[in-house]
Amino acid sequence: MTGRIIGTGSYVPERIVTNEDLAKLVETSDEWIVTRTGIHERRIAVEEGTSAMASRAAERALENAGIKAEELDIILMATSSPDHCFPNGACEVQAAIGAVNAVAYDISAACSGFEFALSTVQAFIRAGIYKTALIIGADCLSKLTDWSDRGTCVLFGDGAGAAVIRAEKTGVIHSVMGSDGVKGPVLSCVARSEGNFLNERKPELGYIYMDGQEVFKFAVKKVPECIRQVLEESKTDIEEVKYFVLHQANYRICEAVAKRLKQPLDKVPMNIGSYGNTSGATVPILLDELNRQGRLQRGDKLVLAGFGGGLTWGAALVEW
Ligand code: COA
Repeated sequence: MTGRIIGTGSYVPERIVTNEDLAKLVETSDEWIVTRTGIHERRIAVEEGTSAMASRAAERALENAGIKAEELDIILMATSSPDHCFPNGACEVQAAIGAVNAVAYDISAACSGFEFALSTVQAFIRAGIYKTALIIGADCLSKLTDWSDRGTCVLFGDGAGAAVIRAEKTGVIHSVMGSDGVKGPVLSCVARSEGNFLNERKPELGYIYMDGQEVFKFAVKKVPECIRQVLEESKTDIEEVKYFVLHQANYRICEAVAKRLKQPLDKVPMNIGSYGNTSGATVPILLDELNRQGRLQRGDKLVLAGFGGGLTWGAALVEW
């Protein structure tokens, strides 16, 4: 038995923030943002938090899968911007959707979180522990963004994506995950860990910090590497892959990955222009769009791949 994706769903907030809007906040321009990143606009949560977005995406995924929330055995929510320290976001989703029979917890692996959640439920399913899972990637990075830092504030957006996974004969063929904690400081947000009752908190540490060029170099090396690894270990020819559903961090990173893999860019769908980098949510939002646009047929092979803070990275080869 393996885990098959039987339904997807996504949710993005209504509020659109364009590059022009940001140019009123920091010294930047639409031209700079578009040429360096491919981003035109992003969605920013005004009223809803991470768990509310995740719950909407989860409901849509359940509806798409045609199953009831009570059938879920496990809910994993990948997020690095939960609304609270506890209860965890997955438990809040459980309550919102009525998944009374599920165990629920969060996974923190930043932008690779959805791939980590997929690998984790896959292991549970293969071990025969659970049959039906809901995995969610949800982030509200606008809460962690320094809106006066032009180097980061133009990159991110808010949103959530979800997938229902069920034990079946075909589905996730293979997955790989990796981490490099030594390089963690190049992309960090250390708000909660700093300060205790003896040392005062430092509010300036509450925001995302990023060494953009280091992250760029890491991404264009690691993403092709882990994709090759997942294909080699599953003895799959790269030409069999219909789409590479990559973490949407930067148009140029997706382009560089396609080039390194010697694959045409039309096999690398992108929606970064509309949403920016929604962290753990980019891959499931994109997957949901492909699914709802009817671009995925039973038997299609897809590679899902993510990278991000930790540093972390992961890829999965999936038969639709
Ligand atoms: N608008 C205008 N200028 C900006 C700017 C903005 N929003 N942000 C930075 N700049 C300036 C810099 O200050 C710098 O100016 P200087 O030369 O006078 O010092 C110049 O633009 C070039 O900055 P640099 O950081 O070298 O640009 P870059 O080509 O590396 O592009 C990123 C910056 C962030 C777009 C790019 O490094 C990147 O995409 N990195 C990966 C980020 C990522 O994927 N993060 C998420 C991982 S999950």
